[in-house]
Order: sequence, then C-alpha cells, then structure tokens
Amino acid sequence: MGNLNGKVALITGAASGIGRAIAERFIADGAQVVAGDISQEGLDNLRSEFGDRVATCLCDVTQEEDVANLAAYGIRTFEHIDIVVANAGAGTYGLITELPLTEWKRIIDLCLTGVFLTLKHGGAVISDGGSIINIASLNAIQPSQGMSAYCAAKAGVSMLTQVAAMELGSRGVRVNTIAPGLVETNATSGMFSVPVIIEEFKENATLGRFAQPNEIASVASFLASDESSYMSASFVSVDGGGNTGRYPNLPKAFSQIS
Ligand SMILES: NC(=O)c1ccc[n+]([C@@H]2O[C@H](COP(=O)([O-])OP(=O)(O)OC[C@H]3O[C@@H](n4cnc5c(N)ncnc54)[C@H](O)[C@@H]3O)[C@@H](O)[C@H]2O)c1
Repeated sequence: MGNLNGKVALITGAASGIGRAIAERFIADGAQVVAGDISQEGLDNLRSEFGDRVATCLCDVTQEEDVANLAAYGIRTFEHIDIVVANAGAGTYGLITELPLTEWKRIIDLCLTGVFLTLKHGGAVISDGGSIINIASLNAIQPSQGMSAYCAAKAGVSMLTQVAAMELGSRGVRVNTIAPGLVETNATSGMFSVPVIIEEFKENATLGRFAQPNEIASVASFLASDESSYMSASFVSVDGGGNTGRYPNLPKAFSQIS
C-alpha cells in the first residue's frame, strides 16, 4: 500500500530501463499498470514478475491504432486510467550534414509523435484529476552535437507538455515533463562503451555521477501522486545538475575510438 493505491497507470516503453523502473515503482506504491511496448519478451517478463498487477499489450507508439488500442485495453481491463507516462523513446547519432532523412523521421516519430499519440489517446480516457508525465531529456534544454533529431524531439516534448496542460487543466488533469540526465539503461549502452563520454558527463554534473533508472522512477511516483497536486506544465530536471554544464563532446569522443 502506498501513495498510488487504487490508481491505474498506463506506461509506454515499460519493458526496459526507465519505463520498467517506473512500472515497478508504481506497483510498489499500490498502482496497477497497463504496460505497452514493442518487446513481447520484455512484456512477458513484467507479467511473470508482477502477475495481475500488470496488464501488457504490444504497442508501437508511432502507430496511432496501437496507442488507441493500448488505452482501450487499459480501460477494458482495469475500468479506469488515472496516470499516463509517455516514456517510449530512443536516440540516434549523426551530424546534421550526414544524417539520413529516414533516421531524422524515425526519431521524430518515436520521441515526439509517439508522445503526441500517447497524450491524444491517454488524455481522452484519463480520469478527471489524473496525472500525465512525459519523459523528455536533459537534451530538451542542452544541445548535443550529433543528436539533432533527439534534441529537437525532446524540446518538442517539453512544449507539448505545456500545451496539453492548458488543454486538460479544466478537467483537473496535470501534465508534467521529467527531463533525465544520463541514466544507465540499454539505450545508453553505446555511450557507456566509450568511457570518455561518461567521464565528461560526470564532470559536468554537479553530483559528479550518472543515474540509475529508479532515481527517475521516484520522481515519476511523486508527480503521479497527489503529493504534487498543484504541479502542472512543469519541466522537472532529474539530471544530477547536468544542466549547469555542457553535454559531452560526442564527435570528439567517437573520433578518438575510430
Ligand atoms: N537513459 C538515459 O540516459 C535517458 C536520458 C534522458 C531521457 N531518456 C528517455 O527515457 C526514455 C526511456 O529510455 P531508456 O533509457 O529507459 O531506454 P530503454 O531502451 O532501456 O527502454 C526503452 C523502451 O522503449 C521501448 N520502445 C522502443 N521503441 C518503441 C516504440 N516504437 N513503441 C513502444 N515502445 C518502444 C523499448 O522496447 C524499450 O523497452 C526515452 O524516452 C529516453 O529518450 C533516457
């Protein structure tokens, strides 16, 4: 029993990393979770660990039908949805002059349009007084060479949060952004294989370290709960103070290893 007791949370990209940590934390806090992801294996793992506390559904957030289906499935299963976390996302690397248009579109589709679709269909069914959390990134406010699509998409998520907060506020629905810094997950394994990138990030973060997924999940738990009842349209940095510095120089780091 915890501060999300009796609530139902829909989470995209829930099978791994930050999304999975949020699912685990919400369940520990008393919620039931509707988990969407493109990884059947990851969803099966969630189901075998948490049983009836979690309902899983294959969902590609770039496909409107999938996202609509996830929301409908959540309502059919648990009768209400009180929390929505638009978490699914991934990065890519490539300088603007070299980045294929297909790769730009893939990241914008996943990181920005995916959040729009989750807001659209999650926002349509969420209970009055609910809480929506969009996972952006430190890169929404801190540029990184080689990450144009990701930075632009995440900056877009921050603005989308504010617009959604305005549109849904009359129903008491709160919409906030969490902006993680460097977190050790599958998504960042490429960065972790280049020690200089990690060292540079640590130097730039005031806390001198990177994060584990549960450190993002605890902030999500707060924003999902009534403890944050007067917070909406907020941009919450969870980056160990990384926003005070500058992002690691990725082209330099990658040129040193090639
Ligand atoms: N790890 C970091 O350092 C970091 C920092 C800032 C922001 N973020 C953001 O946090 C979020 C989660 O990232 P993570 O590090 O946990 O990554 P991760 O790779 O560990 O997990 C991402 C999950 O999303 C799923 N996914 C991928 N494409 C999908 C799609 N089209 N539809 C539905 N699910 C899909 C994957 O299968 C995976 O389960 C992302 O939005 C990411 O941009 C991560």
